[in-house]
Amino acid sequence: SIVSERYRTAYHFQPPRNWMNDPCGMNTSGANTCINKKEKKLHLILPFIKISGPMYYNGVYHEFYQYNPDGAFDPNDSLMNMVWGHSVSTDLINWIGLEPAIKPDIPSDICGCWTGSATILFGVQPVIIYTGLIDRKANQVQNIALPKNRSDPYLREWAKVGSNPVIQHVIPGLNSSHFRDPTTGWIGPDGLWRIAVGAEVNGIGTALLYKSEDFMSWTRIERPLYSNNALNMWECLDFFAVVPGSNNGLDMSSEIPSGAKHVLKVSINSCDMYIVGVYDLKRDEFVPDTVQDDNRLWTRIDYGTFYASKSFFDSKHGRRVIWAWSNETDSYSDDIAKGWAGIHSIPRTIWLDGDGKQLIQWPVEEIESLRINEINHQGLELKKGDLFEIKGIDTLQADVEIDFEPTSIDDAETFDPSWLFDPRKQCREADASVHGGIGPFGLVILASDNMEEHTAVHFRVYKSEQKYIILMCSDLRRSSLRPGLYTPAYGGFFEFDLENEKRISLRTLIDRSAVESFGSGGRICITARVYPVALVDDDGAHMYAFNNGSTTVRVPQLRAWSMKRAQVNVMKGGSVID
Ligand code: FRU
Repeated sequence: SIVSERYRTAYHFQPPRNWMNDPCGMNTSGANTCINKKEKKLHLILPFIKISGPMYYNGVYHEFYQYNPDGAFDPNDSLMNMVWGHSVSTDLINWIGLEPAIKPDIPSDICGCWTGSATILFGVQPVIIYTGLIDRKANQVQNIALPKNRSDPYLREWAKVGSNPVIQHVIPGLNSSHFRDPTTGWIGPDGLWRIAVGAEVNGIGTALLYKSEDFMSWTRIERPLYSNNALNMWECLDFFAVVPGSNNGLDMSSEIPSGAKHVLKVSINSCDMYIVGVYDLKRDEFVPDTVQDDNRLWTRIDYGTFYASKSFFDSKHGRRVIWAWSNETDSYSDDIAKGWAGIHSIPRTIWLDGDGKQLIQWPVEEIESLRINEINHQGLELKKGDLFEIKGIDTLQADVEIDFEPTSIDDAETFDPSWLFDPRKQCREADASVHGGIGPFGLVILASDNMEEHTAVHFRVYKSEQKYIILMCSDLRRSSLRPGLYTPAYGGFFEFDLENEKRISLRTLIDRSAVESFGSGGRICITARVYPVALVDDDGAHMYAFNNGSTTVRVPQLRAWSMKRAQVNVMKGGSVID
């Protein structure tokens, strides 16, 4: 119907129809970088895999995802038939949809093929390790699948190994329906492979660590990779290395330079959060730089609707890329009517800030190939109460980059540390209409003529002793007049060196029902889903830059583009492929 197509995103990844959730294993199969002496070893440890000539996958990105072939609802509610959807791309933007890579058809995944990861062994052998549901009680084991034909550049067909399940639960205290989502494997200096599996042991979330010589038979290491007293299990663990201040990505299976840090990402309570620390190779243990038992204070990858993220090392560009599932926030019946549910965020390059604490994320540069109709404003000034309309672009499909420079730093209001526990509350109470000292300033997007509908993405600057702390909000409370939507005010805090940095930047990617915002060069991200009536009615929607703080704000630079539609699992004529 018209409604479903108006909300359908134009350049975010999604299957043509039905339910989608987590990104599963993702990798580039262009990894021709490591065919060296290790390849010899591969023959030894994987004798049953015939390597036919030099492996060459031609830089194809594979995206696997949790997919329900039966409809736009979550099949996990009935624990049936979750499959691994599969799409391929050469640029992370345009995707070709393929047949599902894995479906439930063996005893060890008969009730569903849940999330897992892909690993390319020694740069030549792709392997999928994933969670299988063995019964309707959701008991979980780990399985392996290999491509049937590695010379197929799309790796269309996958075969499950006869020794599945390769990992079963034999751990005292393990809740076997909370034992899942194996990570991408990494190889240690001892030549052994490792993976981590999320689990709940004696009621405590933990990252179990397994080792293997051949990636097929696995032994658990007594000590977990990491555990703390967070209650529920950690879903979709991700573990990767980063060098502070460098946006070059690292392959977890190559030599990790000294000075590198490791990041453990966990998904829990609808949030993706991370801890930075070091990986103690001797003890095979992740040691956080600071232990924070209250997980409300953990830093989030994204403060909006962004879950089950997975990163991978992109050997084509030498970067680490992360993306996640962004669930619909309309109603179950809306999803059934639309016939589709779930998108993936724009793939983002991810790296660690020079301070060694904060991850930075930025949309992969390939996304810029969709930009058209640039508009450019310089030297604007926004006084208290000003609303500047941004015209000349498609306001439903846009990429906007805007810098804000407060003309004085004297009026910053005082920060209250108790706000850190609940930034959303602060976004509700100090919203875009509430005048402040420095800010709120930002964008008002997807606004109807009379402003009855609008979404505000904005900042407010606070002073906390010697430093400045900024609140960024993405306030959806007036985003739509439609009933039955989840419309929170998302928000998060970050520290900012206002005296030296001066400019606070905002980039917002608007894609119909998706609004992905990157504050301060990607130090803070908020992904939101919105369903304005204005978008369906074709009244158009307006976009503004605004300031509601008493401090005048300069806008030294404002650039915006319309965004072309990407070919996302869609055929040229506009019809979709399954
Ligand atoms: C996270 C998750 C995973 C699980 C998958 C099932 O969204 O619950 O833990 O493997 O979804 O689809």
